[in-house]
Amino acid sequence: MIERIQDIQGLLRLLLRQFIAPGDAVLDATAGRGRDTVFLAECVGSAGKVYAFDIQEEAIRGTAELLETTGFKDRVLLYQLDHARLAEVTQDKLKAAVFNLGYLPGSDHQERTETDTTLAAIWAVLKLLQKGGVLALTVYRRHPGARAESVEVERLLKNLPRKDYSVLAGNYLNQSQEAPSWVLVQKNRED
Ligand SMILES: C[S@@+](CC[C@H](N)C(=O)[O-])C[C@H]1O[C@@H](n2cnc3c(N)ncnc32)[C@H](O)[C@@H]1O
Repeated sequence: MIERIQDIQGLLRLLLRQFIAPGDAVLDATAGRGRDTVFLAECVGSAGKVYAFDIQEEAIRGTAELLETTGFKDRVLLYQLDHARLAEVTQDKLKAAVFNLGYLPGSDHQERTETDTTLAAIWAVLKLLQKGGVLALTVYRRHPGARAESVEVERLLKNLPRKDYSVLAGNYLNQSQEAPSWVLVQKNRED
């Protein structure tokens, strides 16, 4: 249950829960403080698998600690690796993937997602999704570089062939153009 539609992560989790089943393989492209990783680990159950990535040691350490406390460590493969390289280690077709773009809250804002690597990682995930699998993105526009990143992410997703992918976006219509937004993509075909 969520209380505020301003809570994008909560909204996306409501949606993602509809698609993820016990035993699935899923991916968190931006582990950060580990909250999405833990959510995904809970959804896939003890027979499932979560691939989780972050470039920052602080994020990997924090996520590892959270996984230890929640008891989900055994079902998560955690990599300190640029998500542009995720295909090098991801061995499964994915039911779901999550990108929460931007920077690690409460840390150095210099270490944030960048257009080129974000686009490369999105392409890699689109290829790895199984038929019916979903990709959820939270996109920011306020911090330096975020506007350009959001424009390029939108361009990529808008141009996906309709027969192969369904692309649904959420924007806050009564807020500034800099408000965060979300996108849900579903793959409609087998590779
Ligand atoms: C908004 S935070 C993610 C929040 C996280 N999902 C959570 O639940 O706490 C964005 C994260 O992306 C990470 N990041 C930035 N560029 C990256 C890259 N190229 N590959 C992997 N992670 C990256 C940052 O280090 C940061 O921790």
